[in-house]
Amino acid sequence: MIYAKSFTAGLRPDPLLSVSEWSDSHRMLSQTASSEPGRWRTDRTPYLRKIMDCLSPSNPTEKVIFMKGAQIGGTEAGNNWVGYIIDQAPGPLLVVQPTVERSKRWSKGRLAPLIDDTPCLRGKIKDPRSRDSGNTVQSKEFQGGIVVVTGANSAVGLRSMPVRYLFLDEVDAYPGDAMGSHSTC
Ligand SMILES: Nc1ncnc2c1ncn2[C@@H]1O[C@H](COP(=O)(O)OP(=O)(O)OP(=O)(O)O)[C@@H](O)[C@H]1O
Ligand SMILES: [Mg+2]
Repeated sequence: MIYAKSFTAGLRPDPLLSVSEWSDSHRMLSQTASSEPGRWRTDRTPYLRKIMDCLSPSNPTEKVIFMKGAQIGGTEAGNNWVGYIIDQAPGPLLVVQPTVERSKRWSKGRLAPLIDDTPCLRGKIKDPRSRDSGNTVQSKEFQGGIVVVTGANSAVGLRSMPVRYLFLDEVDAYPGDAMGSHSTC
């Protein structure tokens, strides 16, 4: 029965819904993580619409590069994409912040509130306190996927993670090489 359910879930094509449409319908900005808490409105930052829509599975774009100023919603656009993936198009996702310490801060300060305050995501990731929750600061499992969070300074953290989605945030702060590692295999 579980096999049949998983098999049919795997056959289902990705939704036509775009990341900006999903965000306008579902995303809530939390009190603890946003300067303007409440319902997300793409109209508030319209320049993010096309960027988010290029991140949608229905769009053929494979790589999106956002060259930007400070504090204009770059991370939030990526956070919307993360919410969309968990809710609509599950798969393995790797999120990289400049350092492991910063990745933990993003997970606790941005990802946890995103999950807690967006109703359609709340039931998809178990409470970290429950047994076998699959929910830790650096790794959160959900049906059909997993979010792994690491730092660009950790060669080990970047290894052995076959992903469908890769979110590289604050790239300008990445070290030139991870832990002095020059290994290529
Ligand atoms: N559409 C929006 N509606 C309401 N608040 C928004 C919106 N977009 C961004 N914000 C808020 O603006 C603030 C800055 O957003 P964010 O951290 O995503 O910017 P950033 O470009 O990644 O900043 P930095 O350059 O520091 O990394 C956050 O508090 C975020 O919640
Ligand atoms: Mg940012």
